[in-house]
Amino acid sequence: MCGIIGYVGKEDAAPILLEGLRRLEYRGYDSSGIAVMNGSKSIQLRKKSGRLQNLRNLVADQPTKGACGISHTRWATHGEPTDNNAHPHLDQSGNLAIVHNGVIENYQSLRDALEKEGHEFKSQTDSEVLAHLIGKIYDASDETDLHKRLISSLREALKQVSGTYGIAAMHTDSPKFLVGARLGSPLIVGVGHGENFLASDVGAVISHTSNAVYLNDRDIVCLTEDEFRVETVEGGISDYEVSEVEYTAEQADIGDYPHYMLKEIYEQPESIQNVFRGRLLDEEASAILGGLNMTPKQLRDVDRIVLCGCGTASHAAMAGEYIIESLARIPTEVEIASEFRYRNPPLDKNTLVFVISQSGETLDTLSAMREGQRKGHRVLGIVNAVGSTIARESDGGSYLYSGPEIGVAATKSFTSQVTMLALLGLLLGRMRHLSVDYGKNMLEEIRALPAKVERILEQSDRIKEIALKYIDAEGMLFLGRQFNYPTAMEAALKMKEISYIFASGHASAELKHGVIALVTEKLPSVFIMPNDSVYEKNVSSLEEVKARKGPCIAVTTEGNTEMERIADDVIYIPPVTECLSPILSVIPMQLLSYHFAVARGCDVDKPRNLAKSVTVE
Ligand code: G6P
Repeated sequence: MCGIIGYVGKEDAAPILLEGLRRLEYRGYDSSGIAVMNGSKSIQLRKKSGRLQNLRNLVADQPTKGACGISHTRWATHGEPTDNNAHPHLDQSGNLAIVHNGVIENYQSLRDALEKEGHEFKSQTDSEVLAHLIGKIYDASDETDLHKRLISSLREALKQVSGTYGIAAMHTDSPKFLVGARLGSPLIVGVGHGENFLASDVGAVISHTSNAVYLNDRDIVCLTEDEFRVETVEGGISDYEVSEVEYTAEQADIGDYPHYMLKEIYEQPESIQNVFRGRLLDEEASAILGGLNMTPKQLRDVDRIVLCGCGTASHAAMAGEYIIESLARIPTEVEIASEFRYRNPPLDKNTLVFVISQSGETLDTLSAMREGQRKGHRVLGIVNAVGSTIARESDGGSYLYSGPEIGVAATKSFTSQVTMLALLGLLLGRMRHLSVDYGKNMLEEIRALPAKVERILEQSDRIKEIALKYIDAEGMLFLGRQFNYPTAMEAALKMKEISYIFASGHASAELKHGVIALVTEKLPSVFIMPNDSVYEKNVSSLEEVKARKGPCIAVTTEGNTEMERIADDVIYIPPVTECLSPILSVIPMQLLSYHFAVARGCDVDKPRNLAKSVTVE
């Protein structure tokens, strides 16, 4: 949430910063700004509310000059998305600029005190307070080494704030020098040749360098064009290593697709394959997840599993609960990370906690992980972003290797997470009661998934026709049972977040306990009902909706002709073993919401009020 990129080198900074912001826009897109240091030691500030294009136009009208700068794309927390509230923010003297991601919780008391001393603020943001505070400490310092003076002012200021931050700052006294720090909000150093970068995410610098340092919480970093130094806020030595970024700029580009979301939907045959590549063991009819760092004995001793995540990841966790319980018969619970972190649920020593996160940076999920660890539990991660905070701080886990997911609405991460949870269920199941034959069959079913996904993607045009047929719908219900109850939840989330229509997902049998009161001719219901053990039950629920004149769309298994007669529209998925069906059945739901939102003129990659990586509470 909020994207930061800073640059110090020999090139003109503005195009590099604007390009970095384009790559970071998924983190927030309500306003943006750049500050560039020019040779004559002043800060050129350009800020604009609205999409990045507005800032590009402003910079084209009022160009900046200089090879050192910081920039920001915002997702508003304190203060509306106006030009003034956009970052960067200056201190009282106008000589220091900062960009900030996170929340300064005690900003009001700091601001009151600074105002009493005569500081004048131009915005309603918490971040501007930090700029004034660092600037005040800097101006009062008698340190003659100006680099040291900026670092120690930042350090002092950070001791006075509570909350979270990923920050980058610069001062006119040191025109080719950047400082940064992180606590709770991600920050990386992009290590170049004769140039260096600070950014919220490696994606921002990927077209310049594939070498990055993932900073830890409480790290302070300073950069010139030739070198960088990392210390802790307390002044100690920080352990860091330079890692190679695992994807290329091309992989992160949109290519010929009109939207990232569509690109990512179409990447699913490959992203699912990436989850199971090298992780299926034919000999043992099982799976191998080496990153769990657990011995067979430890895995056998697990008697309870808790799966934790937010948004789409929590729906993947729900599917995981059904899958693991059916394959391994281990009691499994889903905890929404924001609840888990404050709820203090009882966990015993044989409970295994997994946190599931595409970005590996979602603050609630990260905090849930730390809460589990604080109580002495092993917390494992199922994460996509390599080098992310959860990946680094968890006690082990497995990467999804889905490649960058940039569309705000999660798509390929869901199918990858569910596939990973199926591997986990298979692994734990084969250590308990699952037979060799069952295991072999599961391996075949898993290997067959990518080709089956291809078959669903071929129906995109048909799904688009259905989306257009219901284009005036003011809402939509999504119903599913057993393994596809989580699919219904996820389908409703997709529809809500990118189309802005009311949508809700329910267990089909719950219809009659309230939801059916909503049914009218104008409210379509989508039944996710493959030919499985609860198919007949779903047919009954669908009939109840039809009897009340509610339009029904059925997502069912190829070859099912019954639905052609009963439902208004039918979408087919290939036959699949029941526990893996959410991996297939969610795909037409992603396409339905995509086509529906595009036809309604919504910006599917940047839905209003949302951001992809939620690094605030
Ligand atoms: C945000 C995104 C969702 C995502 C959720 C969890 O709300 O908009 O698409 O599912 O965060 O993200 P994570 O990176 O932890 O999977």
